Amino acid sequence: MAKRIDRVLINRRTIADRVEEIAHEIADDIRREVGDARVDAAEPADVTLVPLLTGSVIFLADLIRHLPLMMRIGMIGVSSYPGKATRSRGVSITSALPVDLTGHHVTIIDDILDSGRTITAVRAELEKLNPASIKVCVLLRKKTPQARAIPVDYVGFDIDDEFVVGYGLDYDGYYRNLPEVVTLTEEAMA
Ligand code: IMP
Ligand code: MG
Repeated sequence: MAKRIDRVLINRRTIADRVEEIAHEIADDIRREVGDARVDAAEPADVTLVPLLTGSVIFLADLIRHLPLMMRIGMIGVSSYPGKATRSRGVSITSALPVDLTGHHVTIIDDILDSGRTITAVRAELEKLNPASIKVCVLLRKKTPQARAIPVDYVGFDIDDEFVVGYGLDYDGYYRNLPEVVTLTEEAMA
């Protein structure tokens, strides 16, 4: 059997600690924007998270458990790396948003920022829906000029420009369930 995992880039503990820190940053900003957004506050808050399927689901699940705020979640499907592609092939939004964003403070949640095409396309679509504000949160950002040029509000980790999987990120649909962010061997990507 060929070895598939090459290196562990970010371990569970480091991810967990950083996710909690990001949640606190998001919560602070939401409180600044809408005031009291606690789940037991008198009024529900106009707050919606928009996670992009499928890569952000693990990050989302860990993140929202550190956000005891009144909020909706409107997932959308976006595809840019079909099958075994390791470079973006253009963005398509594959499902409609299930919630109304009018007047809502929106935070887009994604797994990784690479070319920035996904975030740019999604932000443009959501802007048409009259939200009060849009922020962007990514777990990982590649250290490339393109990625750095995209305005984002929350970044978990800046990583080198290499293909990574785990903690939600996939190669050909696999490896999303790995609890760590890892690189793959050449054999695994053959
Ligand atoms: P962008 O549109 O080039 O910024 O790419 C963003 C999307 O491509 C992310 O939501 C991921 O689904 C996917 N992607 C980018 N880099 C990687 C990677 O290193 N591993 C797995 N998926 C990636
Ligand atoms: Mg993705």
